[in-house]
Amino acid sequence: MQEEKCCVVSSDKPLDENYWNQQYMANATGWDLGEVAPATKEYIDALPSKDIHILIPGCGNAHEAVYLLKQGFTNVTVIDIAPVLVNKLKQKFSGAKGITIIHGDFFTHSKKYDLIFEQTFFCALPPFMRQQYVFQMHFLLKTGGILAGLLFDRDFEVGPPFGGSQPEYENLFRGSFIFRQFSECQNSIEKRFGSELFVEFEKKEEHTAQLFAISGISCGNCSTTITEKILRLDGVGNCSISTNFKELLLVSKQKIPLEALKHLLSYDKEYQIELIK
Ligand SMILES: C[S@@+](CC[C@H](N)C(=O)[O-])C[C@H]1O[C@@H](n2cnc3c(N)ncnc32)[C@H](O)[C@@H]1O
Repeated sequence: MQEEKCCVVSSDKPLDENYWNQQYMANATGWDLGEVAPATKEYIDALPSKDIHILIPGCGNAHEAVYLLKQGFTNVTVIDIAPVLVNKLKQKFSGAKGITIIHGDFFTHSKKYDLIFEQTFFCALPPFMRQQYVFQMHFLLKTGGILAGLLFDRDFEVGPPFGGSQPEYENLFRGSFIFRQFSECQNSIEKRFGSELFVEFEKKEEHTAQLFAISGISCGNCSTTITEKILRLDGVGNCSISTNFKELLLVSKQKIPLEALKHLLSYDKEYQIELIK
């Protein structure tokens, strides 16, 4: 779907601050709906409290924040990595109460939230970052906190945006989140109709998430063998390995000691594992 494209530079370049800045400078913002998505608007309208702490990561023009403030929400934080965009946001929201605007990297942010909105942020990240995304969402949410919004339910030939499917998301989020809503969005805008899922995921408090750096794994079969072995460990709720085989997300009832994982992987001397966070 060409109109979703945002690239003015090749997508094999790192999708970093510079990349996103260029998109904003070139007004190449094909992802921008120009308003809050109808499903998210409906979700906001049903929220019982206006005082909850809300985060919008990779906020872009932050249409959700505009709507939230209009509705009287008092604790909205938006964060984006592109300084050109963030400067524009600071002007746009100048003098507004109830909003904190952060220029920064979502993956190093550390405040805690009741609710985090997803709107074409997940799909903007290289797919190998998906384990990091799940870990960080789990980390940033308070007890009972919610991740809500839209995820693509389709593939793209090249990204960003990078697509996905319900089974894929299930494999990623299972264990660390309870799926309160997870189905085809019924009120997508026309060009996205039938190609997105509305999700409402609640942080699963009884499970702790750990992110490990791994090396020595070079194919999908080895990756599957390792995750199957780890899934058999007592108390493990989920385990997944990033598409570049560099990170392993482990969700379990109690933290799994690094030594136990090293031992489990010792059948191949190439395999190494270290705790990231
Ligand atoms: C496809 S755009 C979506 C923008 C907005 N959510 C929307 O739907 O209009 C992705 C946004 O994520 C931002 N972004 C990418 N990586 C980020 C990161 N690590 N931390 C914070 N923002 C990031 C980009 O600057 C860009 O504004």
